[in-house]
Amino acid sequence: MPGSPANPFRIKSPELLVAEAGADLAGHGLKRHMGLFQLVCFGVGAIVGTGIFVGLSDSVAQAGPAVVVSFLLAALTCVFTAFAFAELGGAIPVSGSSYSFAYAGLGEGTAFLVGWCLLLEYGVSVSAVAVGWSQYVNELLASLTGWQLPAALSAGPGDGGVINLPAVIVIALASVLLVRGVRESARATAAMAVLKLAILVAFCAIGFTAFKHGNLTPFTPAGLGGIGAGTTAAFFSYIGFDAITTAGEEAKNPRRNIPIAILVCIGLVTVLYCAVALAAIGAIGGPAVGGRPAALSYVVNQVTGSTVGGGVIAFGAVVAIASVVLAVMYGQTRILMSMSRDGLVPRVFERVSPKTATPVSGTLIVAVVFAVPAAFSSLDAVVNLCTIGTLATMAVVNVAVIALRRREPGLARSFRVPLYPVMPLLGVGFCLYLMYETGWTTWVQFAAFLAAGCLVYAFYGRRRSRLVSAPVTADDAVAERQAV
Ligand code: ALA
Repeated sequence: MPGSPANPFRIKSPELLVAEAGADLAGHGLKRHMGLFQLVCFGVGAIVGTGIFVGLSDSVAQAGPAVVVSFLLAALTCVFTAFAFAELGGAIPVSGSSYSFAYAGLGEGTAFLVGWCLLLEYGVSVSAVAVGWSQYVNELLASLTGWQLPAALSAGPGDGGVINLPAVIVIALASVLLVRGVRESARATAAMAVLKLAILVAFCAIGFTAFKHGNLTPFTPAGLGGIGAGTTAAFFSYIGFDAITTAGEEAKNPRRNIPIAILVCIGLVTVLYCAVALAAIGAIGGPAVGGRPAALSYVVNQVTGSTVGGGVIAFGAVVAIASVVLAVMYGQTRILMSMSRDGLVPRVFERVSPKTATPVSGTLIVAVVFAVPAAFSSLDAVVNLCTIGTLATMAVVNVAVIALRRREPGLARSFRVPLYPVMPLLGVGFCLYLMYETGWTTWVQFAAFLAAGCLVYAFYGRRRSRLVSAPVTADDAVAERQAV
């Protein structure tokens, strides 16, 4: 029921967040069945996709061979924040990810805006990544049959088409898997994660057979500025690692497994990305890779002198990008579920079907809403917005670590950020630098998006927040939830 507006600085305690999640779990909610291996696969599923298959050529165009430095800097930004996620995910194992952490650390207003920015990181990236998938579907069709879908049916108006049907189809397929139940989805995600890692490892093996040291010089053709721009571009390929924390309520032993899974994922993909970049540039040189569509297929075709290998890579890209859509869409539904529990978005997002134990209505709404931009927009148009929104939430998560350490020093933490407070402060600094690098156009769009979020909070979320009449103890929270 709408009531008088809540105080936007009101905090939700970690105990209350965990108790509410536990009440839902016990009552009608989600099942704990994801072990460490499944969590790592889920993370790889959310991370490795468009960024390396499509975006690598953009990062190389900016930084040249020094793109490996860009990858390391992007990884470092993620590592600082991964430590913050690891500490918070281990201490507050619920589905809401940075949204819930901000609620516990910084208050409801900030939490709402973080949830709002997560619509950029998760929702908008579902659309963007689906558009990238469509390009590779056409690439694969061309290599298998010599035939492609006409532009009118495989691209939005901005790219010379009418409607992007493959992008809509991959979102529909992902929503069917998610609605059927996460057990099937986790299995599908694990299979796809292993397959795409194998394909990228095979790419490295082929690329390194043609490796020439001379192709790595000049190492920094565009200087430090190029490395900075390349880092912002490379950052997109790391987006999604925090999705692991959205599985907080479905993970076995989450306090231990979530921190480990996050750090394993970051380390694994960093080694892989640097190896892929070195193999590609070492084989054919930075200028030949930079800006080239489907660059990885091109490299393999050049090295092997046949188009078969490029077709296999295109197949890998189709699988990889589909698994990103699946994992990211899963994350979006769980974040909305957490916000819905708090009354900040409509209650339809928190309903879990007793038959499938999944949020069926929420999943279908997310699929329909984000299929629309997927059908009608281009990848480039949304990547920077997605990047700046993600970096903003990551900066807030680092701040939330500091706020919670001060407010809740006795909270059980299975993992603690090392070198506190230097690490979280460096995390904030790196995020702000990469946000700066996205350019002023993106900043203007982001400011407009945030302003819209403030209005939605002021006129909807703040008035309907359930924290207005929230129980003060965790036991009360459980009793209230069971009474609903
Ligand atoms: N990191 C994700 C990708 O590269 C968004 O597709």
